[in-house]
Amino acid sequence: MLTPEGWALLNSLSASEPYRESEALAWSTRLRAEGHAPELVSAVLTQLKFRTQATGKFGPFAGHMVFTRAGLEQATRMSVAALHAGRFAAAGVQSVADLGCGIGADAMALAALDLDVTAVERDETVAAAATINLMPFPNATVVCADAEEWLGGLDGSDGSDGLDAESAGTAGEDAGGGGADGAGTPRPEGFWLDPARRVVSSSGSSRVFDPEAFSPPLSFVEQLAETGAPVGVKLGPALPHGSVPAGCEAQWVSVDGSLTEAVLWFNALARPGVRRSALVLDGGDEGPAELSSAADFGDSPAVPVAGTEGLTGFLYEPDPAVIRAGLVADLIDREFSGAGGRLLDEHIAYFCTDEALDSRFATGYRVLDVMPYKVKGLRHWVRENGVTRLDIKKRGVDVTPEELRRLLMSGQGKAGKSGKSGKSGKGAGHHATLVLTRIGEERVAVEVEPVPR
Ligand SMILES: C[S@@+](CC[C@H](N)C(=O)[O-])C[C@H]1O[C@@H](n2cnc3c(N)ncnc32)[C@H](O)[C@@H]1O
Repeated sequence: MLTPEGWALLNSLSASEPYRESEALAWSTRLRAEGHAPELVSAVLTQLKFRTQATGKFGPFAGHMVFTRAGLEQATRMSVAALHAGRFAAAGVQSVADLGCGIGADAMALAALDLDVTAVERDETVAAAATINLMPFPNATVVCADAEEWLGGLDGSDGSDGLDAESAGTAGEDAGGGGADGAGTPRPEGFWLDPARRVVSSSGSSRVFDPEAFSPPLSFVEQLAETGAPVGVKLGPALPHGSVPAGCEAQWVSVDGSLTEAVLWFNALARPGVRRSALVLDGGDEGPAELSSAADFGDSPAVPVAGTEGLTGFLYEPDPAVIRAGLVADLIDREFSGAGGRLLDEHIAYFCTDEALDSRFATGYRVLDVMPYKVKGLRHWVRENGVTRLDIKKRGVDVTPEELRRLLMSGQGKAGKSGKSGKSGKGAGHHATLVLTRIGEERVAVEVEPVPR
């Protein structure tokens, strides 16, 4: 595809009309009839599909980028990459190496802030994609190399591992011209890493969770941080608290209620007084919201733990970034203590209040009914109440919501079909929400309704 013909074809199709899967065959037939080689047509249509899929992450920029399937899946969404890049700029860092840059999403965000960027990627095809994606930025260079080898060869390092503290700090110099081993390249001031968290085998690819199995591994990142350089590393949001090195800031990020990543910030990139934080991007007019704590993991304010008796009033589900950052008690303490905020079980993140309060860090529900979590009883409840649509949320109970919903709803007619409205009088089309959870040894089902924001 990276021939003049392929490139022109991709961009002319990209500009003409949006790609639709349903029309791919017709497009393919037409392009082949026009004389384009089948391999080229296939490659171009694949890129058009990726560009369409990528608009969720990159908006209109996607229409000018190229992707590999894995590169797109792993790429940081633009809104988050921009915030991460902003942290380098705010710390006064002027040159950054993105070690394992993938298709270059983070590198683009760094380059867009006028930082000098060296984007290092060991996979040739992915590096080619990054080269194209970074073309609008003369301040960015892509190097196809193993990051660890490239770093070891940087100018000013001791020639062995490139990790010596003395060699840090050549900001502002031309980062271009370095070879695959880094020779001839001045050492960048800061480092960004987004290690690969998948292993590829003959049977496909699978996710790895051990930070030492990442590529590059977390120990490599820590060694780099020990030089004193500003270092940021993006990791999976399931990162165990025990794997977070001492002395860095850990930040969990959610976008529209979905947890996307954990990021560790070292040295000049770590904010004083912040050990862990939850960054919530919810599209709010005020921009992202952040909750943070200076205290280490496990060191949380004491909040009431009320047990089943506390399950009244309003039930809140904290944002997943707040939960993963271990900040649920901090949230109750800071925002909900005046409203009677209380945990139900110290190990479960749901909490209750007497009053409904608006928060960017938790979603609130009014408690309508509390029942034992027993399938037979819940089936009866569904019938009695004429439930035709059921949302199930859960924490601390081992259940697959889709399967349970099927079990509970089987035999329920569509709205209005049976003519029965159930004893509650909620009538045809009753849309119910059930929260399943564990409080001590007790398993409960709570009917709730969302509190309007
Ligand atoms: C998770 S992706 C990076 C995604 C990127 N941050 C983005 O937003 O587009 C990780 C990349 O690191 C590359 N990689 C893994 N180990 C590497 C190494 N030792 N040297 C260079 N690249 C490496 C992989 O090929 C993969 O493309």
